[in-house]
Amino acid sequence: MKSPDLPEFRHLRPGRQTRADRLANAETTLDASCFVYPMFVVNGKNVAQPIQAMPGINRMSVDMVAREVEAALDRDVNRFLLFGLPDTKHPDGRNSWQPDEAVQRCTETIKSRFPSATVITDVCLCEYTDHGHCGLLSDDTDETVDNDTTLPLLARAALSHANAGADIVAPSAMMDGQVAAIRQALDSNGFDEVQILGYSAKYASAFYGPFRDAADSAPSFGDRRSYQMQTAQRNEAMEEIEADIAEGANAVMVKPALAYLDVIRDAKTNFPDIPLYAYNVSGEYSMICAAASNGWLDRKTAALEALMSIKRAGADHIITYFALEATGWLQETEGGIA
Ligand code: PBG
Repeated sequence: MKSPDLPEFRHLRPGRQTRADRLANAETTLDASCFVYPMFVVNGKNVAQPIQAMPGINRMSVDMVAREVEAALDRDVNRFLLFGLPDTKHPDGRNSWQPDEAVQRCTETIKSRFPSATVITDVCLCEYTDHGHCGLLSDDTDETVDNDTTLPLLARAALSHANAGADIVAPSAMMDGQVAAIRQALDSNGFDEVQILGYSAKYASAFYGPFRDAADSAPSFGDRRSYQMQTAQRNEAMEEIEADIAEGANAVMVKPALAYLDVIRDAKTNFPDIPLYAYNVSGEYSMICAAASNGWLDRKTAALEALMSIKRAGADHIITYFALEATGWLQETEGGIA
């Protein structure tokens, strides 16, 4: 009974709940269906090449990718995001639209062997250009990226992914008009049903460091600030998302996730009906791995806390290198609630 002498205070005592209470009261839960597993795919056979800065993640050839997909489907992770790494790079990134390149072959293999898998392909030139930028340079002497001449090349790459059977193409070059250009190319080639996931709010971020190592796509000069967003911008992210939706995006993305949780929340509040993806990027993965391997953090609880925060912020889908590991942990912890 409450003593009449005590001031008003909360009687719920959230700090004293049992584990069963915590489970029953959880406002946010995680499960395999919210994860998208990113994979780096290369040409060749029997290749599983570890990426040093991303422990547990490999560059894989088609045969190895098929095995990984099978293991993921066993855990109910059924969305995959493919990044292709070509053997040779050119100024115009021409390998990005070759039908026998790694992304196209992996897409074909996954879709024919595992029809329940959803294949999302990253559409960008940076992994395919010898200068590492996401688009064509204006000319050889000029170090600026030319937005408009890049658009048809991105559309060509997207079309080749659709041809290979991609369910969703995800343009990440941050060129203005890329969603519209790709939508038009898809529709005029009979791919009306292929969806577009816009990397709509993509920030120029230090957290992409390990990815650029993995994809060998660090720009050979300059940086990506002329086409990626500045960290200080919040409202501009909503304008980018709105523009992508107007151009025909079926889903949108905020990237990176952890340093931009406010932007994820804004996106969900302002555009509640459009599927929202958040990319828990390479640096966000690597820093947990590094701290955990030094014994400074617990890998499992730190990763689940980070993933939970992204879900709580409003993401419907989380693209994460932890996808497979996390589904194992979730089975032990019932939705990530300890
Ligand atoms: C560009 C692209 C990048 C990432 C995904 N697509 C790198 C960049 O913009 O430099 C980063 C993903 C990650 O860090 O995990 N095509």
